Amino acid sequence: MSQNPISGPQSQGKSDRRDVAEHARPKLPAGQEGEALIRLGGVRKTYFRGKEPIHVLTNLDLTVPTGSFEALMGPSGSGKSTLLNLIAGLDRPSQGSIVVGGADLTRLSDSALAKWRSQTIGFIFQAYNLMPVLTAVENVELPLLLTNLPAKDRRRRAQTALRVVGLEDRASHYPRQLSGGQEQRVAIARAIVNDPILIVADEPTGDLDRHSADEILTLLTRLNQDLKKTIIMVTHDPAAAARASLTHRLDKGALV
Ligand SMILES: Nc1ncnc2c1ncn2[C@@H]1O[C@H](COP(=O)(O)OP(=O)(O)OP(=O)(O)O)[C@@H](O)[C@H]1O
Ligand SMILES: [Mg+2]
Repeated sequence: MSQNPISGPQSQGKSDRRDVAEHARPKLPAGQEGEALIRLGGVRKTYFRGKEPIHVLTNLDLTVPTGSFEALMGPSGSGKSTLLNLIAGLDRPSQGSIVVGGADLTRLSDSALAKWRSQTIGFIFQAYNLMPVLTAVENVELPLLLTNLPAKDRRRRAQTALRVVGLEDRASHYPRQLSGGQEQRVAIARAIVNDPILIVADEPTGDLDRHSADEILTLLTRLNQDLKKTIIMVTHDPAAAARASLTHRLDKGALV
């Protein structure tokens, strides 16, 4: 583990990056920077309310290169979360193809998709979804319980991830003992503890004041630039979208 004194999100040392990377489990090829990591072709998503179809996404094509940080904006109900969930393998399209990191998601069984998700994707939500009865480090460790890493290694990786987000001194705090911004940083540590190639964030700053939101956005920018994570972020906040290198706009289920 790194011996570097880490005082906060601005001061992450090289050895932290190495520590996270060295403990990465084998995963699907992430691709070279600039190559397509995500490729959606002709994607449609239709829900049914009784017999009445609701066309949420209509014939959508999207390519996202490895290493980019892209924002997704659009009015409420335009299908942003639906699109993010499809990319992350949380839901399946009604039609079309979705290839992420070389995996054709529409061809994976439910159990293969769940395994792929746990190895490939880091999730960040507006509501931090931390377990109130677990400490910060225990929350961060949760995704590793699905792996066969020994307990000592799990704890070490969780502590490293907490250090990356500048919260190593809050490891034994419970969520109720943390501010909203700190809770979201714990959630981000949990999202990166598996060393995913892709981070999907659904309104990650939606519940935060400007200052905390800016801290989270700076952290996401660092994960993108330093740890080379590809990031797709849904947001209503133009200041958040401004941190991304590209902004996609959805309207009534289509990219405009
Ligand atoms: N499981 C579902 N069953 C039926 N309809 C759904 C389901 N999930 C989403 N929808 C509908 O799909 C549409 C798009 O929803 P989605 O959550 O993707 O929108 P959004 O752009 O993320 O909106 P917001 O900005 O409010 O989060 C909405 O009309 C919603 O009611
Ligand atoms: Mg949404």
